[in-house]
Amino acid sequence: MTSILMVCLGNICRSPLAHGILESKLSEHFIVDSAGTSALHAGELPDQRSISEAQSHGIDISNQRSRQFIAKDFSEFDVIYVMDQSNYDNVIALAKTDEDRAKVKLILSEDPNAQIDEVPDPYYGGADGFAYVFNLLDAACSKIATKLN
Ligand code: 4NP
Repeated sequence: MTSILMVCLGNICRSPLAHGILESKLSEHFIVDSAGTSALHAGELPDQRSISEAQSHGIDISNQRSRQFIAKDFSEFDVIYVMDQSNYDNVIALAKTDEDRAKVKLILSEDPNAQIDEVPDPYYGGADGFAYVFNLLDAACSKIATKLN
């Protein structure tokens, strides 16, 4: 069974969206989860703006709860998608082997049409930032799902 982990900083804005979007595009033969490099919001629901944006696309992410990324995730997951370079550096810092390091990828690297490399952090902005992030992640997750399904 292929397992995919989505990672951002807080695990309340971007990675919960990536988690919900990819899950909606894959069969039940896949495991999708998400985590944050920080424990700042551990135990919390996704940001209400992410919940609303997902809901407007028919995706329910309100069952998710934030948790911190831990080194053990390298053995639990086949692929670890990070949202930005800072997430990448923080995850790689916990890797022990080349096999661990090879699992970590910037999620937008999966979308050849993406104009940017990193998913911007929408936390301090408005709802339009969350809609923009949703669209970036939706396009990347479509490519990932086509590859995996
Ligand atoms: P995320 O966004 O990494 O996409 O979940 C953030 C959420 C919270 C904070 C920063 C980014 N924060 O500083 O609390």
